[in-house]
Amino acid sequence: MGFIAQSSEKFTSPVDNDCTNVYGSQFAARSMPAQRLPDHEMPKDMAYQLIKDDLALDDEALKLLAESSNKNIIDHEEYPKSVEIETRCLNILSDLFHSPVSNGSPTAVGTSCIGSSEAIMLAVLAMKKRWQDIRKSEGKDTTKPNIIMSSGVQVCWEKAARYFDIEEKLVPCTETRYVIDPVQAVDLVDENTIGICAILGTTYTGQYEDVRAINSLLVRKGLSTPIHVDAASGGFVAPFVKPELEWDFQLSNVVSINVSGHKYGLVYPGIGWGLWRSPEYLPKDLIFNINYLGADQLNFSLNFSKPASHIIAQYYQLIRLGRSGYTSIMTNLTQTADHLSHQLQEMGFLIMSENGGEGLPVVAFRLSPTQNVFFDEWALAQKLREKGWIVPAYTMAADCEKMGMMRVVVRTDFSMARCESLVRDIQAALGALAHLEIQNLQRYQA
Ligand SMILES: Cc1ncc(COP(=O)(O)O)c(C=O)c1O
Repeated sequence: MGFIAQSSEKFTSPVDNDCTNVYGSQFAARSMPAQRLPDHEMPKDMAYQLIKDDLALDDEALKLLAESSNKNIIDHEEYPKSVEIETRCLNILSDLFHSPVSNGSPTAVGTSCIGSSEAIMLAVLAMKKRWQDIRKSEGKDTTKPNIIMSSGVQVCWEKAARYFDIEEKLVPCTETRYVIDPVQAVDLVDENTIGICAILGTTYTGQYEDVRAINSLLVRKGLSTPIHVDAASGGFVAPFVKPELEWDFQLSNVVSINVSGHKYGLVYPGIGWGLWRSPEYLPKDLIFNINYLGADQLNFSLNFSKPASHIIAQYYQLIRLGRSGYTSIMTNLTQTADHLSHQLQEMGFLIMSENGGEGLPVVAFRLSPTQNVFFDEWALAQKLREKGWIVPAYTMAADCEKMGMMRVVVRTDFSMARCESLVRDIQAALGALAHLEIQNLQRYQA
């Protein structure tokens, strides 16, 4: 974990389409991206070959992605190049998330994880320990830590609070607001608050919580309460679709961020990332120095062994796609989500998610009273399953759990053509369910 200084040379020009030879290309003539997301895409064979060559310095087998599944990232001595690739990914993410810079270097530190859940556990531990250390130094009680979050958090937050004995202070969602209310959140802060969680893309509706508003309210009240941003999905969407949105380390109270590589980071499960604003936010007691693998190394994780292949795959995606590649993909997904949302609205559904990149490429919707039907979202989900679609029906978060809803997460393989086909199948399913309802009514009347 942590960052090392690397050459800051970047891939800045568009894809060199004329060159079919990796070693004759502009990419081979430059250092590997180690600090920032390249501005432009790189042909896939070049990204593959360059990483493969880079890994050749490791003693063991040298193949990329699936071929690197034998590598264990914990073993720094045996796989030093994989560890360096992890550092490069962290550098790129800390730059993407606007880490503060001191003496020309980003101050952020971080670690790879199995997913956002592990990163969140670590971030919660760090906030709790830091709060305890400060309180102890002031001779104050440290037995009643609390954390503030929306009732719409992903289950890993409830796990973290319960596993680590922290009181959950929930800001309830309502039937018209499915995200945290910044005023209510900041009003809940007291001397025992270890931090506030803000979600960049809620699991339920994909909406972004207003991190900037929470930050401004805290600053206005002179509170240094830490904010952790759960950017499990949004961390790989917002910087490309809404680069002007302020949600990351640009905001003074944001001390840590998690992002999943296996969601919109476009890597297979399980890879996630945890980043802290600076080492100050990572209490030293939580970091272990181990030397039984040969060299002295620092470790902050819940797991010990884990595959390096996902980290290598993440680095491959980062340098293969660059800023322009991620931007094209995330923009396409957002447009597809907007199209689906529009079509569903035309059919009479109530749309609960955002359009135009104001949230994730997720469409959350529910049946409206104006549709005049007696069947519910679960019946529709079941009908769609007959056609092979898995569009889950579920209940909204605590406090509005009576509200049924459905959700489509637009992924890279959900093209506009597939979207059209889903729209047709939803129309057909609505027709079939309505027909069934009429038949049942007639049978009942007869
Ligand atoms: C907002 C949010 N946070 C955290 C998680 C957990 O992420 P992971 O599956 O990477 O552990 C999810 C997963 O859906 C999520 O949507």
